[in-house]
Amino acid sequence: MAKFLVKKSGPLKGEVTISGSKNAVLPIMAATLLTEEDCTLCDVPALRDVDVMCDFLDSLGAKVVKDLENNKVDVKAEGTIHSEAPFELVKMMRASILVLGALLLRSGRALIHLPGGCAIGERPVELHLKGLRALGAEINEQSLSKGIVDAKADKLHGSTIYLDFPSVGATEVIIMAASLAEGTTILENAAQEPEIVDLASFLNKMGAKIKGAGTDTIKIEGVEKLHGVTHHVIPDRIEAGTFMVSAAITGGRILIKNMLPNHLKAVIAKLRECGTVIEMTDDGVIVDGSVNPLVSTDIKTLPYPGFPTDMQSPFMALLTVAKGPSVVMETVFENRFMHVAEFNRMGASIRTEGKCAIIPGGRSLQGASVVATDLRAGAAVVLTGLVADGTTEVSQIYHIDRGYEHFVDKLKGLGAQIERIEE
Ligand code: EPZ
Repeated sequence: MAKFLVKKSGPLKGEVTISGSKNAVLPIMAATLLTEEDCTLCDVPALRDVDVMCDFLDSLGAKVVKDLENNKVDVKAEGTIHSEAPFELVKMMRASILVLGALLLRSGRALIHLPGGCAIGERPVELHLKGLRALGAEINEQSLSKGIVDAKADKLHGSTIYLDFPSVGATEVIIMAASLAEGTTILENAAQEPEIVDLASFLNKMGAKIKGAGTDTIKIEGVEKLHGVTHHVIPDRIEAGTFMVSAAITGGRILIKNMLPNHLKAVIAKLRECGTVIEMTDDGVIVDGSVNPLVSTDIKTLPYPGFPTDMQSPFMALLTVAKGPSVVMETVFENRFMHVAEFNRMGASIRTEGKCAIIPGGRSLQGASVVATDLRAGAAVVLTGLVADGTTEVSQIYHIDRGYEHFVDKLKGLGAQIERIEE
């Protein structure tokens, strides 16, 4: 199994360019099933999850041309699209559920074995199914009790749907299904993440009529047909946030290119509370951790535009060494503190109480053997490894490969002492 060896690295300096967004490209790739015409996706990050989604679309019958050297993927879902999603691919990537609406529209049926929970939570899909039922799909309750989504629909019709929680995935599945349903759909308490906006802009370019993406109420007027398009995926705001923290935690000064600061207002506000200087320039965003002492602040994760749960563990890395105590409250996922044990192995002395982690801060960390418990936690322990004395060995880095393109090269380009070793 591959590992990372990370050494204390001193202040990071230089510039880094952010890749395309994993959480934007995955739903957009699912949406290519909504047309028989050719879709060309650009600025696609070369990630494991993208590889898996390519294999997944291919297994459903789409023609996929992957050119990740040039960050491009071409999909043409012409002819018959199978209704059953192969379990071995679904269990590798729960985002496979995103094809649910498209499969229903293409083949009148969708059969997906749910992968069940993961390290960060149970990951239910009842809101996705609530939306599809409202649009006219029939869900086999007996199969569902065995963890299998077996949905049928001759055709879908518009409806008004309220999401009990602004689920990103449920919002995306419902938008896709409603785009070709008969009539108008109003989705209330929708997720407002930038990735939803990018999906809606992709679908509207294809001929869909979606209004309100990025707000809590989205109106979708169903159309007859969608067309193939070319689309550039938005930059990955969580990768950008992770690199912002890398400058803050090492007291360095870096220029981050190809990021959209508007997508990270909460993270930027919190970094500034910790004393980090952040300046928007024409070339990109300058993040300077060398000006002020690093001080602590409290974090509460919330659906967008609140502080993103995906930045919770990378930001906690910062708080382990920031001067002063802090409290991190995780309100989005029910079990997203697996990284606390890894930080504690390095001397962070963090205590968790239910949804809260209490971080004493001001620690001098020691290198240790740690595990990447999910893709963001993996990046987080690399960040603490950059400032810990000695060497930190990070295992299960396949998680990191899922969500961070050329992570080692980008960090090395900023002066980080990190090596990937294949065992
Ligand atoms: C997306 O997951 C992202 N993944 C996650 O990123 C991200 O953490 C999450 O949104 C929240 O921002 C992709 O976009 C591929 P949710 P998703 O449905 O859609 C509960 C990463 O690190 N919920 O908004 O699965 C659920 O249990 C990954 O890149 C229900 O209760 O997130 C969770 O507690 C990790 N019922 C909360 O909502 C449902 O029917 C957020 O889930 C659906 C969700």
